Amino acid sequence: MFSALFALAALPLTLVHGLTVNNPTTTVTSTGSITISWTTSSGDPSAFSIELINQSFNSQFAIANNVDASLGSLTLTLPQIPAEDGYTIELVNISNINNVYAQTSTFSVSEPVSSSVSSSASSSGSASASGSASVSGSASVSASGST
Ligand SMILES: *[C@@H]1O[C@H](CO)[C@@H](O)[C@H](O)[C@H]1NC(C)=O
Ligand SMILES: *[C@@H]1O[C@H](CO)[C@@H](O)[C@H](O)[C@H]1NC(C)=O
Repeated sequence: MFSALFALAALPLTLVHGLTVNNPTTTVTSTGSITISWTTSSGDPSAFSIELINQSFNSQFAIANNVDASLGSLTLTLPQIPAEDGYTIELVNISNINNVYAQTSTFSVSEPVSSSVSSSASSSGSASASGSASVSGSASVSASGST
C-alpha cells in the first residue's frame, strides 16, 4: 500500500496532458530519418510542434511545426547535428515552445551512415611491361602431284 503511494508520487507531476511520446526505436543518425510516434488521450491538444533538444547546451531545433496529433507518428529527416548523447525530443505547444506536452528520455545521435567514403589512398609505383614477341618461322609447302 505504501509502495503504491510512492509509485504514484514518482510520476512526473508536470505532465498535464495524457500525451506521451515514445523514444526512437531505431538508431538516430545525423541527417538520417527518424520516426517519432506518440499516443494521445482525450483532452490533448490537436496539434503540436516537435523540438529536438540538446540537453548539454540546451539548444533546440524545431524539426516539425504544427503537427496534427491524430497522425500518431511522423517520419522526418534530421538536419546535420553533432553526433553525441543527450538528445531528447519534445512535443510542445505550437505557440509556446516552453509549454512542453511530452518528452522522450535521452538518446544518442550517431554519425551519418556515409555513402561517400572519402579515401586518401594513393598508389605510387610504376608498372611496366616490356617484352617482345616475335614469331618467325618458315613454312614451305611443296606439293607435287600430277593429274
Ligand atoms: C499554448 O500556448 C498558448 C500561449 O501560451 C496558450 O494560450 C494555449 O492555451 C496553449 N495551448 C495548450 C493546448 O496548452
Ligand atoms: C550539444 O552540446 C554539445 C556540448 O556537449 C555541443 O558541442 C553541441 O554543439 C550541441 N549540439 C547542438 C545541436 O547544439
